[in-house]
Amino acid sequence: MLDQTAIAETLGAHYDLAPSLEVADRLGDIYTRMRRVMPPGDWAVHAPYVEAINRLKKERNAVILAHNYMTPDIYHGIADVVGDSLQLAIEATKVEADVIVQCGVHFMAETSKILNPSKTVLIPDMEAGCSLAEGITPEGIAEMRRRYPGAPVVTYVNTSAEVKAASDICCTSSNAAQIVAGLEADTVIMAPDKYLAQNVAMQVPDKQVVWYDGSCIVHERFTAQELREFRGWQPDTRIIAHPECPPDVVAEADFSGSTAGIIDYVTREQPEKALLVTECSMASNISDALPGIEFVGPCNMCPHMKKITLEKVLWSLHSMEGAVEVDAQVAEGARQAVQRMIDLSRRLRA
Ligand code: 13P
Ligand code: SF4
Repeated sequence: MLDQTAIAETLGAHYDLAPSLEVADRLGDIYTRMRRVMPPGDWAVHAPYVEAINRLKKERNAVILAHNYMTPDIYHGIADVVGDSLQLAIEATKVEADVIVQCGVHFMAETSKILNPSKTVLIPDMEAGCSLAEGITPEGIAEMRRRYPGAPVVTYVNTSAEVKAASDICCTSSNAAQIVAGLEADTVIMAPDKYLAQNVAMQVPDKQVVWYDGSCIVHERFTAQELREFRGWQPDTRIIAHPECPPDVVAEADFSGSTAGIIDYVTREQPEKALLVTECSMASNISDALPGIEFVGPCNMCPHMKKITLEKVLWSLHSMEGAVEVDAQVAEGARQAVQRMIDLSRRLRA
């Protein structure tokens, strides 16, 4: 892999990437989806990359799956599919193109590869990790099994393929409570997010939910105190928190849900002011589609998600570097855990 300067030079030699008002104008339809959050000068910088990526995507027969935490230039400019972790996993199973470019973090690309192994799955930055995924190993799962013999292990998708393979079933933030409620056991192990587990435990009081000691560096930083202060200043603000936040933070919120759940909620409710207690790009990505809502208050950036940039996406499509590989035996174990989640979620929704 070349360094960033060499990558920029190589790309510059193949594509016209200079800021351009002409290209910005030509891609005006795309810009209308992010006008509220992106100054025209910034769009003139991004537009040549967007045009080059969209052209190269066709040449490579590639699709881009992008998580809701991607920046607006990626989310609106180049993504074919956007969504939360569950939606992206389901969409990955349906991809017919040869190449998937995963605009998100490493565990998401690994999940796509596990679910659709014949495809080339590229991640534009191999270092785009996740504090939850990095905080647990298969040995951590084995230790939980020793402490709670016979209890099924529900693993959050924010984990490595090895950890998924060591567990019984996966969950995401949009289906965790249903998955736990749908299991027959009285005691359920949830790993690695202790806050998601504690929030689920409150929604499923007839189960004993026990948890591993992991957390998300983005959501653990919000405090109940800051939300109370915010509500004191601006009492008419609707507060919406992701379930990776600590339970006292979720208790201050009017609604809690996955990133897709948050989008559905604000779209349905159309509050005048909304505070999204989650990653900063969430509000930016939906701001133009919901002009009647003023998005206010603090948010936190995920340093892993923010490693994915237009330049790195263009490089991955140009060089075809950054293919995610998973050992076949591990992939099969992980696939079963993810597939059980998809099947159980479908059955519970039906
Ligand atoms: P969801 O999009 O599934 O809510 O997950 C949030 C997250 O933190 C992914 O890393
Ligand atoms: Fe991981 Fe949290 Fe970043 Fe999501 S927001 S990728 S859970 S560190």
